[in-house]
Amino acid sequence: MAIREVLKMGDPRLLEKARPVERFDTPGLHALIADLQDTMKALDGAGIAAPQVGVGLRVAIFGVERNPRYPDAEPVPFTVLVNPALAPLDNELEEGWEGCLSVPGMRGLVPRYRRLRYQGYNQFGKAIDRTVGGFHARVVQHECDHLDGVLYPMRIRDLRNFGFNEVLFPGQDLIDD
Ligand code: NI
Repeated sequence: MAIREVLKMGDPRLLEKARPVERFDTPGLHALIADLQDTMKALDGAGIAAPQVGVGLRVAIFGVERNPRYPDAEPVPFTVLVNPALAPLDNELEEGWEGCLSVPGMRGLVPRYRRLRYQGYNQFGKAIDRTVGGFHARVVQHECDHLDGVLYPMRIRDLRNFGFNEVLFPGQDLIDD
């Protein structure tokens, strides 16, 4: 399909609340998801949400294969998630470093729920219901935030923990959400 331009922080469209998808398995929805996949792959991202390409719908995709560069990063299955709902399993938060395709070249330390249940649908309208933790839970929270107009820097507790990749993590090749 096509690699789309990713909006960058400062664009007001990234701050809007996206609206639910009303019809599944449509050519328009399939085309959007193909574009999101092409864009995520081209930019070597871990996830991307429709608002990041200027489409105000509650659609996100994510997935991380096992990567020798990140032996500690647990793989996350490739997922198309439409109209998601998140429910933390408890109040336990965990700080972790995040990057974002809309905030290129930077990293910030962000608190996220450690364990959660998420529900939603794939592009065909098939229900998804998973209970996850750790990095998978973090990626889902990051992508779902995009659907509510929230970018990760808005969640950093201490802005001293926000900076440029090459300064914070010299010599490392990092992936963005
Ligand atoms: Ni992001």
